[in-house]
Amino acid sequence: MNDKERCQSMMVEFDGMLLDYSRQRATLETMDKLDKLAEAASLKQHINRMYSGEHINSTENRSVLHVALRAPRDAVIYSDGKNVVPDVWNVLDKIKAFSEKVRSGSWVGATGKPLKDVIAIGIGGSFLGPLFVHTALQTDPEAAEFAKGRQLRFLANVDPIDVARNIAGLNPETTLVVVVSKTFTTAETMLNARTLREWISSALGPCAVAKHMVAVSTNLTLVEKFGIDTNNAFAFWDWVGGRYSVCSAVGVLPLSLQYGFPIVEKFLKGASSIDQHFCSAPFEKNIPVLLGLLSVWNVSFLGYPARAILPYSQALEKFAPHIQQVSMESNGKGVSIDGVPLPYEAGEIDFGEPGTNGQHSFYQLIHQGRVIPCDFIGIVKSQQPVYLKGELVSNHDELMSNFFAQPDALAYGKTSEQLLKENVPQHLIPHKTFSGNRPSLSLLLPSLNAYNIGQLLASYEHRIAVEGFVWGINSFDQWGVELGKSLATQVRKQLHASRTKGDPVEGFNFSTTTLLTRYLE
Ligand code: F6P
Repeated sequence: MNDKERCQSMMVEFDGMLLDYSRQRATLETMDKLDKLAEAASLKQHINRMYSGEHINSTENRSVLHVALRAPRDAVIYSDGKNVVPDVWNVLDKIKAFSEKVRSGSWVGATGKPLKDVIAIGIGGSFLGPLFVHTALQTDPEAAEFAKGRQLRFLANVDPIDVARNIAGLNPETTLVVVVSKTFTTAETMLNARTLREWISSALGPCAVAKHMVAVSTNLTLVEKFGIDTNNAFAFWDWVGGRYSVCSAVGVLPLSLQYGFPIVEKFLKGASSIDQHFCSAPFEKNIPVLLGLLSVWNVSFLGYPARAILPYSQALEKFAPHIQQVSMESNGKGVSIDGVPLPYEAGEIDFGEPGTNGQHSFYQLIHQGRVIPCDFIGIVKSQQPVYLKGELVSNHDELMSNFFAQPDALAYGKTSEQLLKENVPQHLIPHKTFSGNRPSLSLLLPSLNAYNIGQLLASYEHRIAVEGFVWGINSFDQWGVELGKSLATQVRKQLHASRTKGDPVEGFNFSTTTLLTRYLE
């Protein structure tokens, strides 16, 4: 097979997105074998079970239905015998009405001023996805037009520095705080929520909380207990995993407040387009399936545990951090879904930065050090116009020159023969040689508006599910985050006792006792 035939057979297009995986270390025979692996792993059945609301998150006995969050109003998707789509749209309608009231100034704060700034408090899945989408929309001209005069900030870390940064320059009189927590028990979020409640009530009086604080949660009882009126609470459901929740009120509420509901609806439609593609396209034309199978190939067969996510768009600067959570919290598992230790390693180490910044940071290692499969993500039409005239190429063409060049540098490398022809001195040849044959894939999107952002998000969410289904793990639980949390509870109690009663540090190992004692001194 010649190069052209190989490339043509390794390119897939759907709804404006073009995936080129011809630079993977895979042949058509590999793809055929991966297809058989998918069949052996019952991938199609797993996808169907997910869409039909079966409790595939077996350790938490829950359905996994983030696809219902962006389903059209007339869709029918069951969880536990109930069509969940009307509930989804009830909340979406409520968000639309509320966000319009806030944006138009008909909902005002305690002193009668419109609320033009929003701080969304949340962490992990209640933060990273909305931050990614917000960052991507910020420079989209259409979205930016609707965001004029408004600010959206995210308070995630319990570090007082994050609190200080978030409230800097904001006036409680014109600020709305959205507390986002699926459980409404996450220590960091609840402490930050209490801190901002105090910030509001000390400035405007305790009654102001009702006008300045709203919530997004599955736990409305705790929302009420906290002091937020449940009329101003936006629900979601157990069948939405935290890291898959950006299309629920978790993302939709803050983003609608900032950009208006119609922009967010476009984002949901983009995600929904990929949902339909994922559950209906044949595997050889199915973008999330191909992405997932290639990841399994790289990790489990070629032994490359990491993956670099390299969007050539500054607007996507928070994409890699979001995917890091979706992927590593989902697939960082050591046992099969039945609890049997895996005879192979699952999960990927994800990291990334926008190009070209990454090129001046870690690409050296990718070109000549370790082999790290790369996802290059490029955009045909930039969100922003060309500023400088008379340059050789526009800023965007300059950026995209790198997007096209880097995969070839990785794939083809540079031999000592080529270097000799260029009269490179002998002693430098080993240093200037590029081994080549380093895998990457390229994903080209027509533009980066709300719709495309939704497509990109859903493609990666489903890719990660595909990997998990093939590895035979539960990609939808996260027990690995619990141990650290419970140890922190013990430390928290100790700090309280030592600070208030002078209790000595006890009950910890020698190392922790020493460190804690030093900290308390
Ligand atoms: O990091 C663990 C985790 O449970 C995530 O899965 C979740 O997204 C995050 O904490 C926040 O949880 P919550 O939305 O309940 O505050």
